[in-house]
Amino acid sequence: MPDIDDVRQGEKVGIGVPQQTDTTLLKGLSHLDWGMKDRLSRVFDRKSGKTVMLAFDHGYIMGPTSGLERIDLSIVPLIPFCDCIMCCRGILRSVVPPTVNKPVSLRFSAGSTILTYLNEECLLDIEEAVRINASLLAIMVAVGDPKFEGLTINNLTRTVDLGTRYGIPTLGVTAVGKELVRDARYLAMACRVCAENGAHVVKTYYCEEGFEQVTNTCPVPIVIAGGKKLPELDALNMAYRAINEGAAGVDMGRNIFQSDNPLGMMLAVRAVVHDGEKPEKAIEIYKGQRKK
Ligand code: R5P
Repeated sequence: MPDIDDVRQGEKVGIGVPQQTDTTLLKGLSHLDWGMKDRLSRVFDRKSGKTVMLAFDHGYIMGPTSGLERIDLSIVPLIPFCDCIMCCRGILRSVVPPTVNKPVSLRFSAGSTILTYLNEECLLDIEEAVRINASLLAIMVAVGDPKFEGLTINNLTRTVDLGTRYGIPTLGVTAVGKELVRDARYLAMACRVCAENGAHVVKTYYCEEGFEQVTNTCPVPIVIAGGKKLPELDALNMAYRAINEGAAGVDMGRNIFQSDNPLGMMLAVRAVVHDGEKPEKAIEIYKGQRKK
C-alpha cells in the first residue's frame, strides 16, 4: 500500500529530450502490435537482425529420417546454439525440455505424408500454440499445387487471423512441388503470395540466379531453408550468398543435423549469418569443432 501522505510531484520530465522510440530491424513489420514484436524479437537477434533457426520438423511428413532418429541425442544438445527451434508439437512435448528457453516456430498445419500427396493439411487449435508459448506459427503454402493450392492459402489466411487474435506472428513456408521449378520467378511469386496474405515472415529456398528479385519483392523478412544435405562448404556458401542478397536468416535442418559435425556446422552457420563471416573462414570453425 503506497503511503498516501507522501505523494511527490515528479520533476524528471526530460524537457528537450525526445522520447526514445524503438524501431524494429525487421522490414515491413514496424506497424505490428507489442506481442507480435516481442515474439519476433525473440526469434531475430537484436544486434544482427538475423536468425539461425534449427529445423527438425521433418518427421511429420517423413518419419525418423537420417539425423532425427533420436532427437534427444542429436538435436537437443544443439538447441543452446540456435536462435529458434522449428518443430512439431509432438516432439516438442515428448523430447524437448521446456527449460531450453528458446522461441518456438511451431508447425501449425499437418495432414499428409510423403507416402501420399503432400499439402492436404488442416490447422491445429490456436489455443495449443498459446499453451506452448509459440513465437511463430509455421504454415505450409503450396503455390501452384494443382490440388491443394487453395487449401494451403486458406490455411495461411486463417492462421494469420488466429495468430493476430493472440499476438503470434505467422511464418509462411513455401512448399515447392516436384513438378515446379525453384527459380527466382516462381519463388518471388510464392513469397509474395504469402506476404500479401499476411505472413509476417516467409521461408523459402535459395536460388542461384536472381535471389535478390525474391527478397526485394517480398515486403517482409525471408529466411531460407537449407534443403537437402550439401557438402559443408557449399551449404555455407549458400547461406552467405542468401544473407548478402537480402535474406534475414536461415531455417536450416539437414545441412546441420546430417553433417558429420553438427555442432561445428551450427557454429559455422551462425558466424556466416550473424557476423558476415566468409564461407572459407567459417568452414574452419566447422573443422575446428570436428571430433578427434
Ligand atoms: C520444410 O518443409 C521442412 O519442414 C523443414 O523445416 C525445412 O525444409 C528446413 O529444413 P531443411 O534445411 O532440411 O530443408
